[in-house]
Amino acid sequence: MTQPEAVARDGEVAVFTFDHPPVNALAQPVRARLLAAVEALDADPGVRAIVLIGSGRNFVAGADVREFDRPPLEPFLPALLARVEACGKPVVAALHGATLGGGAETALACHYRCAAGDLKLGFPEVSLGLLPGAGGTVRLPRLAGWQASLELMTSGKPIGIDRAIELGIVDRRVDGDLRAGAIAWARELAHAHAPPRRVLDLPVPASRPSQFEEFLRALPAAARRLPAPPRIVEALASAALLPADAALARARALFMECLASTESRAFRYLFFAERGAVPDVVLARAVGQAAVLGSGTMGAGIAISLATGGIPVLLIEAKQEALDAGLARVRAAIDAAERKGRLDRDEAEAARGRVQGSLTLAAVAGADLVIEAVYENLAVKRELFGRLGQLAKPGAVLATNTSTLDVDAIAGASGRPADVVGMHFFSPANVMRLVEVVRGRESSRAALATVHSVAKRIGKIAIPVGNAFGFVGNRMLYAYGREKELMLLEGAKPEVIDKALVDFGMAMGPNAVGDLAGLDIGWQVRKEWRDKPEDPRFYRASDLLAELGRYGQKTGRGFYRYDTPGGERTPDPEVVELIRAEAERLGVRQRQVEPGEIVARCILALINEGARILEDGIAASPSDIDVIWCNGYGFPRHRGGPMFYADTLGLATVVDSIRKLARAHGERDWTPAGLLVTLAGAGASFASWQSGRAAAADGGGRQG
Ligand code: 3HC
Repeated sequence: MTQPEAVARDGEVAVFTFDHPPVNALAQPVRARLLAAVEALDADPGVRAIVLIGSGRNFVAGADVREFDRPPLEPFLPALLARVEACGKPVVAALHGATLGGGAETALACHYRCAAGDLKLGFPEVSLGLLPGAGGTVRLPRLAGWQASLELMTSGKPIGIDRAIELGIVDRRVDGDLRAGAIAWARELAHAHAPPRRVLDLPVPASRPSQFEEFLRALPAAARRLPAPPRIVEALASAALLPADAALARARALFMECLASTESRAFRYLFFAERGAVPDVVLARAVGQAAVLGSGTMGAGIAISLATGGIPVLLIEAKQEALDAGLARVRAAIDAAERKGRLDRDEAEAARGRVQGSLTLAAVAGADLVIEAVYENLAVKRELFGRLGQLAKPGAVLATNTSTLDVDAIAGASGRPADVVGMHFFSPANVMRLVEVVRGRESSRAALATVHSVAKRIGKIAIPVGNAFGFVGNRMLYAYGREKELMLLEGAKPEVIDKALVDFGMAMGPNAVGDLAGLDIGWQVRKEWRDKPEDPRFYRASDLLAELGRYGQKTGRGFYRYDTPGGERTPDPEVVELIRAEAERLGVRQRQVEPGEIVARCILALINEGARILEDGIAASPSDIDVIWCNGYGFPRHRGGPMFYADTLGLATVVDSIRKLARAHGERDWTPAGLLVTLAGAGASFASWQSGRAAAADGGGRQG
């Protein structure tokens, strides 16, 4: 009998290997190969047991997400897994690394499961706006029970080997060679005449009728409003009530509903947009040692990211006390990551060992990458880069973490501007994944590629941006904030604005964010901002509060009061009165501002500014803008980002709405961007514009 593709034989044990780099997603050819293999091996009298294993770093990372936007192709995964489960010979899944979504469902369709110590098993479908659609909702509870299934599937968080064994999902751990261990076990099972142990034949665990409803009610309101979490709970509830076949059909129908939702489209779009740009590894210079200048919150956060990401880092400060505080902050964060299980003991120990401190700037001489994170002042940074230009070794990349200053002005002072780039981290830098990589006028491609590849190595999402005031994220933030500040003067209370935008899906309201960041920060920036808009109403409410020493959380007073022991926000009538008096002074008539208007003005301002940024070439694509806003500013992922959201509204509607706002509030702030008008006129979208440009660049590249 000829050997099916991807199958190897070890005596009476056949081994099927998923070999579809980079992550063994279950693309159509993989499904076809597995189906053909199972059919052939089931019929082959020489085969007594089958092992399924993954090549490379993991077992199987799930369905191929790219296929979800195309017409479905046979064999479909649920039917394929039913065929695996129906196999008359014991099928052993040998799991390692990412075993996610459809990959975990494949494991559940096997009769026995063993795994290596690096297992990461989970159901991340929820973060794609989906539910496990290939039998997971019906099979998993039969092994792990209802509560664990509800938690695993609604959280999307993966579990490790110990928990997987504890829950009964994995039968045994294999230390050493996984393939050899799995084959040995399969052989044992065959010799013991062990029957195929089908999960669907296991008894349905008992459940309380109200259990599912209670679980759903306890989910955060934002999760309940999305399509997937309630449907996951419904699919599991159906599995508790219905016969397996009916429950499988119900889960599949719910999966198809999720798949068709705008929210899932948005999540899938972000999944690929966040993985879009791949660093040029050929151009990137090797970075074996980094240095961070400044050990404040930002500098320490960057040092934590580098150390936990595997890059040795020297933290440099001018004063011993500040350096000690910075190093203590780094250690405390690594300890906390270890306590919470995000790093195991060895990883935490290695991360701690990667951090050193120094009080001498000359110590940068050993670094391949220097990241400056000192006080936000151009003169200070220019002076520092002048010295760095001399002290850093030739070829070292010099990055500034400025969020508002001109990268070219900083680069010019270094005497080696080709080595200088901006690396704009978001606070807290060890938590936030976004980094805007700022291209200065003279930044070399090698310096940009180096920074991009370091960002990727330490698990960040690096988005290239041009050097203009506020780069991409903060420039748009100013447009968004402009409108909320105007609406404060027009009579909208801070908490009403925040609620409207949180209801829209923003992670936090803009006034609460201002209080958290400190109202003095933006106030200082606006004081030094030379060509800021000439409008006495511009950010007047924030500046007024800052002038009064109401800096936000750190002073216990800002847009809100923070006087409870837990530091919760309390609306403050004094703020409403202060702003009312200021509005009167400025001649702004106060009125009732409805939540719909709040959302429309803030979000349309974002979209319009985003379109201008594209026109100016400061961002390379609409999806880069969306990644920045979803990862740096708490824009709701289920809406895909401001530009994706604009497409879902329709660009003609967006332009009409902006023109209506122009009639009510003037054209200075509300002239629709030329790009928006052009695209709306052509019946196009940001997405079609982006793919048109990509195709043109591709064609150009081929011709060239
Ligand atoms: N489908 C298609 N492509 C995938 C993919 C998937 N499920 N998972 C990863 N990829 C691609 C990425 O797009 C990336 O492609 P690129 O190199 O062209 O940019 C490449 O694989 C590597 O991915 P990462 O950059 O994310 O690599 P990491 O090493 O950082 O992470 C991972 C690996 C943990 C496997 C991560 O990729 C991941 O979490 N993947 C998604 C897993 C997932 O969501 N699975 C569920 C899918 S839905 C499903 O299974 C439905 C089922 O119930 C029917």
